[in-house]
Amino acid sequence: MSQPLAILGGAPLRARPFTAWPIFGDPEEQRLLRALRSGKWGKLNGLEVAEFEQRFAAMHGAKHGIGVVNGTVSLRIALMAAGIKAEDEVIVPPYTFLATATAVVEANAVPVFADIDLETFNLDPKAVEAAITSRTRVIMPVHIAGQPADMDAIMAIAKRHKLVVIEDAAHAHAALYRQRPAGSIGHLGSFSFQSSKNLTCGEGGIITTSDDALAEACRSIHNCGRISGGLWYEHHVMSANYRLGEFQGAILNAQLERLEAQTQTRDRNGQYLAARLSRLPGIHPQKRPADCTRHSYHLFLFRIDAAAFGAPREAVLQALQAEGVPVCGGYALPLYRQPLFLNRAFGPYLPNASRTLDYAKVSCPNCEKICREQGAWFEQSLFLGPQSDMDDIAQAFERIHEQRAALARFTAATTQKLPG
Ligand SMILES: Cc1ncc(COP(=O)(O)O)c(C=O)c1O
Repeated sequence: MSQPLAILGGAPLRARPFTAWPIFGDPEEQRLLRALRSGKWGKLNGLEVAEFEQRFAAMHGAKHGIGVVNGTVSLRIALMAAGIKAEDEVIVPPYTFLATATAVVEANAVPVFADIDLETFNLDPKAVEAAITSRTRVIMPVHIAGQPADMDAIMAIAKRHKLVVIEDAAHAHAALYRQRPAGSIGHLGSFSFQSSKNLTCGEGGIITTSDDALAEACRSIHNCGRISGGLWYEHHVMSANYRLGEFQGAILNAQLERLEAQTQTRDRNGQYLAARLSRLPGIHPQKRPADCTRHSYHLFLFRIDAAAFGAPREAVLQALQAEGVPVCGGYALPLYRQPLFLNRAFGPYLPNASRTLDYAKVSCPNCEKICREQGAWFEQSLFLGPQSDMDDIAQAFERIHEQRAALARFTAATTQKLPG
């Protein structure tokens, strides 16, 4: 019998921390200082954002990149550029960060939730097709955790119904679908550079597209409605200043140098861990279809089958945490179960639809099962170390599984002690 579980007083399997995030050094400092000393701190007269937009777009198979303040605004601008009108419907998955759906509300449009596949955690094309109505204008797949959604199926549906596809690629920097970069397959792509993301400058975002007219519309909307060749105080569409700043651009240019090597490391480690964990009863890593030719592993998603451990997901995750492996239960609620949606707390948006919309009636059983019982994830920086880090994670699971009877007794005893 191995060491007792750390949650029961044994020594943790892993005492050393995993790789910290963000990773930075001289290139970031030099770029930042250069931008500072140039005195050109805004995108309109600086060089950093322009360089970054061009490099990021090229790397992601797109003709245009439009740098903006975050990955929520990028979604909203993409929707506006696509010509969304009040109370049009946008199909989104419910297993994602809030912003995927609130960007739709902020565009005064209605988020319609379609279920995800239990094994891939990605939007299920059959559910998308079933959700289409005469008001549907856009499908917004999320490449969840950095694994591209089923884009061939989604693009085929969009073509049949004449819909626009906006990829929420906030998790999917440098991810590949059939060797095509995420963010270049739909009509528009959207990325986030918020602190946790695989490419970060603290806060930021970008829209990618190869359509000249859509790019021009995005540029105008992110720049106070100005148009190329127009006067400075000439404003053509509802819009504001959503421009990415030069200091962020400077950091992103330096971080971009690191992205390819980091992505390769994450993908190698992620695949290795998935193979090891798949051999353990009760652990189901996110299923990776063959068309995912590179996973960016912004998150490593997996499901826990409580029956195989004799203890609920929360107990397994607490035991893992105690062994020194940072882990998270993931999105706790399908988005449509968030109070914001249940109460239709949309502020000034959707005044008419708010009267009839009832998100309490929405049911996406796969998403509910994942949120309520099974889902969990590791964050991307765990995958930037050596393969031995993956072995530690796998061994922690193995130890917990081996001693599941002790964990189950401990969980039963501590649960009984809970007040109320
Ligand atoms: C899937 C998804 N979409 C959109 C966003 C929004 O990005 P930001 O935080 O940069 O606004 C996030 C951020 O976490 C995200 O995870």
